[in-house]
Amino acid sequence: MNALTTLLGTEHPLIQAPMAGVQGAALAVAVSNAGALGSLPCAMLAPDALERELTALAAGTQRPYNVNFFCHTPPEPDEAREAAWRFWLAPFYEQAGLDIDAVPAGPGRVPFNRAAADLLERFRPKVVSFHFGLPDIDLLERVKGWGSVVLSSATTVEEARWLEAFGVDAIIAQGVEAGGHRGMFLSDDITEQMGTFALLPQVVAAVSVPVIAAGGIADATGVAAAMALGASGVQVGTAYLCCPEATTSAVHRAALQSDAAHHTALTRVFTGRPARGIVNKVMRELGPMNPAAPHFPLATAAMAPLRAHWEARGSGDFSPLWSGQNASGCREVPAAELTRELVQGLRSGPAAH
Ligand SMILES: Cc1cc2nc3c(=O)[nH]c(=O)nc-3n(C[C@H](O)[C@H](O)[C@H](O)COP(=O)(O)O)c2cc1C
Repeated sequence: MNALTTLLGTEHPLIQAPMAGVQGAALAVAVSNAGALGSLPCAMLAPDALERELTALAAGTQRPYNVNFFCHTPPEPDEAREAAWRFWLAPFYEQAGLDIDAVPAGPGRVPFNRAAADLLERFRPKVVSFHFGLPDIDLLERVKGWGSVVLSSATTVEEARWLEAFGVDAIIAQGVEAGGHRGMFLSDDITEQMGTFALLPQVVAAVSVPVIAAGGIADATGVAAAMALGASGVQVGTAYLCCPEATTSAVHRAALQSDAAHHTALTRVFTGRPARGIVNKVMRELGPMNPAAPHFPLATAAMAPLRAHWEARGSGDFSPLWSGQNASGCREVPAAELTRELVQGLRSGPAAH
């Protein structure tokens, strides 16, 4: 037991990272039932799917779980930008025999809003976590008001201080090794992003709430190392991607378990925001941080048909193959088994390292 398990109500201070697009309630249920904190990512769920997944989660476990939302500010649609991006993508459409003019523009991901809060209030999850800062103060107060513990990701010391000032109960220090989207929200300067073992001790020194380490932690030794650097707990994402309870696609699973996973990069070509994935054809040919991509999440729409076309042919050349820099923990083992292995790193304690 430590400050974080007391806060979360879990047996272990271990969180399975919410991972939008590659998992639903099943993975979260398995992890929560194994004594850690399972997470349901909601950023890509339409209202009916959100209700279905929340119902499955509540029915699947009596233990605490986390429900996760993005809280970005949606951008104004920008036709000129969209047209310029389609110009970049046109050769790929032509090669695939697809019609770029038939692709509707659209967001793909919605931020936490009143409708989601209305639904969430019925479930009152023990924990709610946010990515890209926090929602408006009235929404945040509602979530706190019904008793959920609130977490959010910080990628710099300044973001950690900001989150503490706005009343989060614990902070996820997300190092630049982490898979998926950078949670960055105070700055879009990628050069400010730090590795987990540089960021973690500095965040621990800067705030008084518990700090959860995330990014590059793939096994019990990594868990122990993060705890030795002052973390109150850890959040692990990539290592869970090949568990049978995850919905990770076949091409994504294959890439994670191949040498291709040794080369990841931050890219904005899939959504418009920097996110870490395994380098593939479209990242290489457009340039991973191509500045022409529409603002998050508007870049999602034009990439989707290319992704679907090539995945149907067994290729991940146009798929977001999200992965952290350390995919060595990715194995086809049940999530409960992986959870049991990871918590061994909590048992050894800092003194052993
Ligand atoms: C496939 C994938 C999807 C992700 N989606 C989300 C998400 O929806 N919400 C979120 O807060 N974090 C998301 N993340 C980031 C994780 O919360 C976490 O920071 C990261 O997985 C930790 O690093 P690791 O992948 O090296 O373990 C995602 C990560 C991955 C790998």
